[in-house]
Amino acid sequence: MKKVLCVLLALLLTMTGCARQAAEPEEELIVVGMSQVGAESDWRVANTESMRREFTEEKGYRLLFEDARQKQENQISAIRRFIQQRVDYIVVMPIGETGWDSVLQEAKKAGIPVILVDRTVDVEDESLIAARVGADFYGEGRKAVAWMEQTFGAEPIRIVHIQGTLGATSQLGRTAALEEGLARNESWELLAQLDGDYTQAKSYELMSDYLSQFPVRPKIDVVYCENDNEAYGAIEALEENGYICGPEGVAVISFDAAIDALLYCREGKIALEVECNPLLGPLAESVIRSLEAGQTPEKNYYVDEQVFLPGDITDELLGTREY
Ligand code: AHR
Repeated sequence: MKKVLCVLLALLLTMTGCARQAAEPEEELIVVGMSQVGAESDWRVANTESMRREFTEEKGYRLLFEDARQKQENQISAIRRFIQQRVDYIVVMPIGETGWDSVLQEAKKAGIPVILVDRTVDVEDESLIAARVGADFYGEGRKAVAWMEQTFGAEPIRIVHIQGTLGATSQLGRTAALEEGLARNESWELLAQLDGDYTQAKSYELMSDYLSQFPVRPKIDVVYCENDNEAYGAIEALEENGYICGPEGVAVISFDAAIDALLYCREGKIALEVECNPLLGPLAESVIRSLEAGQTPEKNYYVDEQVFLPGDITDELLGTREY
């Protein structure tokens, strides 16, 4: 009797279509909580777009995106919210390197893998991080300093250094490379080190203030800007104060290689562009895919990057650039 009832029930379910629904449940989306630094630079905007392009419903993801507006405490609160929401993965672009141990331990305790994109963190327990995807910032700085050594040799040069957000991996790496160059080259003089916080507005303001203290324009040979937006601000301030940025004047060095900066470089206003690739979405997504497949990803994934001089900026190259 029981058997007959079961057959009848199965028949009924098939007729109403319920059996089909039960056999093919809707595919579950992977929930990713993402804490982005902010929107301080063109690089950052391109990085956010690259992430949003990758973590879509069509590709099987639900993305919970939070903009920290350049405040690390906002990132920590966002991570705690992601833990409460029981997301499957947490992706963080950390602002600074320190101050992460407790919140990352909370994520680990909740069993949520954390993937770092762009910068890294300085934590004692490496197992708090599943993987990091980003650039070799110190390597980028070394490329810039190698160019300075080749270009100026033992000439005495006077340098203004505009740093990125203090404590960020990209600032630490690019600054360390310049400071090593300064220690190696006795003829290099550091005139000022300004905290541009990776923004155009702050770089413009600090450079203008710096220049306004001199009754007579000081000689400046190099301005080492730690990103493109700082370079735009510095160039504006320099030009307003009568400097020429180019082969006959100040050599501006910049990092990122966003399209506008490459155009400045073609004009000669930026002497050297060291690329920092923000298009990290596909790599971050492949790390999550490998975790989903039960594999252990590498700890670090680096992206290929190049350097550009004015003569390298052709229309063809510009046509291939995605940011
Ligand atoms: O950490 C990467 C740096 O952060 C990029 O060079 C800069 O533009 C951004 O804001």
